[in-house]
Amino acid sequence: MYGLKPVPFTLSQVIEQVLPSAATTDSPETRRKRDIMNRRELIQTGAAAVAGVTLLKPLTAFGYAANSAVRHGLLGCGNRGTSVAESFSKSTSAQVVAIADLFPDNLAAGRSYFDKLNTSLGRAPIDSKLLFHGPHAFEQLAASPDVDLIQISTPPFFHVQHLEAAVAAGKHVYCEKPVGIDIRQANLALEIAKRVKQTQSVDVGFQCRNAPPIAAIEEKIRAGALGKIAVVVGNYYAPASTEKNRPGASADEYRLRNWLWDRALSGDILVEQNIHIIDLCNWLLGAHPVKALATGGRNILTHFGDCWDNYQVDFTYPGDVHLSFSSTQFGADGLFDAGLRLFGANGSATVPYSGPIQITGKQPWAWEDSTAAAAGSGKFAANGAFSDNLEFADRDKERTFIESITSGNSHNQIAAGVETALSCMLGRMAGLTRREVAWDELLKHGETYELGFGMEQFA
Ligand SMILES: NC(=O)c1ccc[n+]([C@@H]2O[C@H](COP(=O)([O-])OP(=O)(O)OC[C@H]3O[C@@H](n4cnc5c(N)ncnc54)[C@H](O)[C@@H]3O)[C@@H](O)[C@H]2O)c1
Repeated sequence: MYGLKPVPFTLSQVIEQVLPSAATTDSPETRRKRDIMNRRELIQTGAAAVAGVTLLKPLTAFGYAANSAVRHGLLGCGNRGTSVAESFSKSTSAQVVAIADLFPDNLAAGRSYFDKLNTSLGRAPIDSKLLFHGPHAFEQLAASPDVDLIQISTPPFFHVQHLEAAVAAGKHVYCEKPVGIDIRQANLALEIAKRVKQTQSVDVGFQCRNAPPIAAIEEKIRAGALGKIAVVVGNYYAPASTEKNRPGASADEYRLRNWLWDRALSGDILVEQNIHIIDLCNWLLGAHPVKALATGGRNILTHFGDCWDNYQVDFTYPGDVHLSFSSTQFGADGLFDAGLRLFGANGSATVPYSGPIQITGKQPWAWEDSTAAAAGSGKFAANGAFSDNLEFADRDKERTFIESITSGNSHNQIAAGVETALSCMLGRMAGLTRREVAWDELLKHGETYELGFGMEQFA
């Protein structure tokens, strides 16, 4: 399974070229607009209110008339896909008009869910000609002239393949993380990034950056509130994921449905789940790690799959700044805790999913609402719809994305998404090889994973 094959490429150079225009970070202006939208929402709530606060020119460069809907096609009607598409529908002018899934049962469940949702929002049910299933559903959705935006919420192994089709078809894309599970996919994603037209907007699902308290502390840290940052510690302790089964499912179907347990399909817990914390660390430090040393294994889990249930990684960032990162994914006791602590010459910052988000030291600061919640009080949300500090993360991420489409100030976050995925792959390779791995070595090595079965069997 762990196939290491050299692949020639020049990822560092491509990242350098693409990243400046591809930053996930919102501009101060975008933040101001978002704040205005958030404040207005305090007075107006519900779908009608959402339409009322849309900050659109009468007719933008993209031909979206004021308050007109962005026609939204969902690819992957699972847990996360459904949750994000619903949130788009309730928080923005996007309307789910098409859905696609590999499996007919998941498509049927998606149809029933979105027909009810659309009805509750006073919108039409999904037209039966805009329902696609099977291994070519992603291509059929991409080819549909009735869709403006494709949300990719399929298992990670397929993200880059699906991204390629959606970008080639000229769609706006909201792609879940990770952007690639191996170096070959990361390399392809960077090529796709160069094909994105100025009129297209592509976002990657790192919604934590848009959580208002996290966006606020990032501004303070970037402005130097901690002084020189010496060291960072981070963690992601999550419960086990649950089995998904269907009577009569073949071994390949079982594997696909339980992709979270499978390294080739998911990228392993570091690349699939822990990536949110590594992404925040990269963002707060303004860099990616230059090398990593790691350990971990599968000490508790005995079910199908080859993903580890724990990782301990020491990432070295430029300037000899170390991120000591630890993660677990097992157990059914509901234990959940994720976040970062940054220690600098002038103070320290705590950035948890749940609990006080604050800076202590020479420039003390705290996000008021977050201090009310005790650390660790947050519950895990397998669909990413967390409460506490992340409560408005999805909503604000989606609004910023839709605004990028309707205003014509398009995003291209592919390279930034790849940079974070590679950072996680660096830790994974260090763990699997049990030795220090440098960034350049990771890129040159060309680690690749194969699915090992054909998808046509699901036609
Ligand atoms: N940003 C976040 O906080 C967050 C949280 C949870 C999950 N995710 C990501 O969202 C994605 C989906 O996760 P999930 O929990 O919804 O998984 P899920 O298993 O619940 O849903 C995946 C769906 O994709 C379908 N599918 C599988 N292969 C497909 C293919 N080749 N073509 C079309 N459809 C296919 C499945 O049938 C299923 O309906 C993953 O990439 C995951 O990493 C992100």
